[in-house]
Amino acid sequence: MVTGTCFADSGNDVTCVDIDRAKIERLNRGEIPIYEPGLEEMVRENQSAERLRFTTDLVPAVSAASLVFLAIGTPQSDDGAANLTALWSVVDDIAPHLRPDAVVVTKSTVPVGTCAKISLRLKEYTGQDCDVASNPEFLKEGSAIEDFIKPDRVVAGVRREEVGEMLHELYKPFLRTEKPFLVMSPESAELTKYVANALLSTKISFINEMANLCERMGGDINDVRRGIGHDTRIGFAFLFPGVGYGGSCFPKDVRALMKMAEEHGVSPRIMQAVDGVNETQKRVMIEKIGAHFGGNLRGKAIAVWGLAFKPRTDDIREAPALVLVDWLLTTGATVRVHDPEAMENVRSQYGDKLTYSDKAMSALDGADALAIMTEWGDYQRPEFKEIFQRMRSPVIFDGRNLYEPWTMERLGFTYYSIGRPAVG
Ligand SMILES: NC(=O)c1ccc[n+]([C@@H]2O[C@H](COP(=O)([O-])OP(=O)(O)OC[C@H]3O[C@@H](n4cnc5c(N)ncnc54)[C@H](O)[C@@H]3O)[C@@H](O)[C@H]2O)c1
Repeated sequence: MVTGTCFADSGNDVTCVDIDRAKIERLNRGEIPIYEPGLEEMVRENQSAERLRFTTDLVPAVSAASLVFLAIGTPQSDDGAANLTALWSVVDDIAPHLRPDAVVVTKSTVPVGTCAKISLRLKEYTGQDCDVASNPEFLKEGSAIEDFIKPDRVVAGVRREEVGEMLHELYKPFLRTEKPFLVMSPESAELTKYVANALLSTKISFINEMANLCERMGGDINDVRRGIGHDTRIGFAFLFPGVGYGGSCFPKDVRALMKMAEEHGVSPRIMQAVDGVNETQKRVMIEKIGAHFGGNLRGKAIAVWGLAFKPRTDDIREAPALVLVDWLLTTGATVRVHDPEAMENVRSQYGDKLTYSDKAMSALDGADALAIMTEWGDYQRPEFKEIFQRMRSPVIFDGRNLYEPWTMERLGFTYYSIGRPAVG
């Protein structure tokens, strides 16, 4: 959606095809099926300018296209590898209808060698060589439009210079600030995406491990962050401790890279550690809450603020908040949840097992503890007096280090956070 909409917005004629009929019907009624800041307005504008269409009808869309982007989901298989079932089904669907000069571009995150395999498969169908390029996507959910229209870089994995030029032309409107357009082989481009996500995940697991050390040794990870971040070799970006990474990309991409490494006889020791640390970190709030209540939460009411895997999205795939919610439900506690955007997605998964609060504050009424799992702006500067009054006992488990421990102590809260001493 984001790729199609941004390309339409820069003046191209775009048709987005999906097999999910309900999704396409909603889009054609003017409803946007995901929450992403700025997307709704951009879709509407381009739909009314007739540059952007949504359809389930693949044949006319493909037979008219000079560029066919594949942006299909590549979720994790049981063995950790990327599941390419949907991708191959689309390749088979488009093959008979491709224009002879069409270029197929993989936007999906796919294992190294996939472009080459798509090329072979298309040749089997068409009897001709077909250009297949890799153009991995680096946008972040929550700022997807902004990231797409102002990328740090664009990577194009191509076999022929002309295909690189065609993609460069397409991206020029987004590269006006001299950000680089990097041309390389499809294999390098495919690997670039995995390496980027692997390193970002590594930073998160690293700082989480250091935060856990701080807690045990009496340090404060925020001070340590300040202490290391000014070193220009280290920096501050992506070194925030928390409740582990989730979402539809990091977990599956780390595991897919591990799988690829193993298949090529390389032991992915760092990635194994990154994944293992993350699995443990997703349970860090469980440990803290369990310990606070002496292992007995029966009859307790626990409020959870934040369900999406990160702020400014309604995406709950692999969200750490749901690991906590699942555990809370096994303890006999009642669980009162709030999220500014992800409530409907959670409701469709959990039904009436949870109590849903429209307002963050009302989730706290009579609560024995509050767990903060996503750092939405809504939770950053709350009225602490009101929180104190609404809760049965003023206990906060802050998985995102939103508040200052000394302030919370002064206000009378028992306050647990990540990598900092508990107070109260
Ligand atoms: N979400 C992100 O932030 C992000 C960022 C960078 C890269 N990526 C990569 O982009 C790809 C897509 O991710 P996503 O989050 O948009 O996935 P998604 O699951 O939200 O969307 C994929 C869409 O593909 C459709 N689809 C499945 N089979 C189809 C078929 N046969 N024909 C037509 N449509 C079909 C689904 O109905 C769905 O709407 C993945 O490979 C992901 O790793 C995602």
